Amino acid sequence: MLNLTIVGRGAIGTLLAARCIEQNIAFQMWWRDAVTTPLSITMKDGKQHQFQQGKGQAPDILILPLKAWQIAPALDEFAEHIPTSCCIALLHNGIGTETLALNAFPDNPLVRLTTNRAAKKQQDTVLETGYGNSQAGWLRTPGDQVKQETEALFNRLLSPCEWHRDIRIPLWNKLAINCVINPLTAIHNIANGGLQSPHYQQLIAQLLDEFLLVAQAEKLTFEKSDLEHNVSQVIAMTAENYSSMHQDIHFKRPTEIDYINGYLLQVAASHGITLTAHQALYAQIRQLESV
Ligand SMILES: NC(=O)c1ccc[n+]([C@@H]2O[C@H](COP(=O)([O-])OP(=O)(O)OC[C@H]3O[C@@H](n4cnc5c(N)ncnc54)[C@H](OP(=O)(O)O)[C@@H]3O)[C@@H](O)[C@H]2O)c1
Repeated sequence: MLNLTIVGRGAIGTLLAARCIEQNIAFQMWWRDAVTTPLSITMKDGKQHQFQQGKGQAPDILILPLKAWQIAPALDEFAEHIPTSCCIALLHNGIGTETLALNAFPDNPLVRLTTNRAAKKQQDTVLETGYGNSQAGWLRTPGDQVKQETEALFNRLLSPCEWHRDIRIPLWNKLAINCVINPLTAIHNIANGGLQSPHYQQLIAQLLDEFLLVAQAEKLTFEKSDLEHNVSQVIAMTAENYSSMHQDIHFKRPTEIDYINGYLLQVAASHGITLTAHQALYAQIRQLESV
């Protein structure tokens, strides 16, 4: 049986631990050294689970369900202790940690995941807040047996989980949504549904046009009508919710802007493209982070 290790005691990490219990998957959690207080979660169906710090057995799969900006320090921290056979799984919003992970773990299998499942954390208590699908793809593929076992495990853990030959496609699809909804809701201090106002439509269209310019330069094909549909569908379906960037600004935490609009700006710059609207949002979020 594979030894699955979940790093941290965050909202998504705790949700994964609960999924392990529900799916009868053996797992341990690795928390920061000083933390010992137990952690609990209440699932949408009312079931509750409690967790303790794991014992530190060598993992076969190490999942990093962290904020994007926490990935680089975590890779540094674990690089020396993890056997080369261990599969490293990156699970976060945004893009930009993949090359870091490939370099930090030059011999390990590496998988990249993104999920639409949702959970909220308040102190030591997590609440499952939403079901959703997940997307996965290999950044470095292991041999056939490990590949099959790992994919089967993630299919149970994050069901329904769709595997992609090129994980960039679902990641960029999600980036298109996040780079509109996250900064705008944070800057204007509104729930996602606030973006249905006619006031925002011209700016949303410009942001998507700029996104398409960069995607085309990267030879990734998206239809503008699909992106517009996806963005307005997420806005409508999550109208009452506050985006993660809104919450990060509200609670004075660092945001993931460098891995969302910041990533897009970085790729744009590598092609000599200037993105006026994304640059303006990026600057405003940076300013709000510094308050
Ligand atoms: N929450 C959701 O509903 C949701 C849904 C979809 C996607 N996502 C994405 O999933 C990712 C994780 O989100 P989240 O909401 O679960 O964030 P979170 O609650 O902030 O969880 C991150 C956790 O990891 C811990 N951590 C960071 N580095 C660590 C290390 N080196 N060793 C041990 N623990 C470490 C953090 O501890 P400290 O607090 O001590 O730093 C924190 O408890 C983000 O990219 C987010 O955008 C979240």
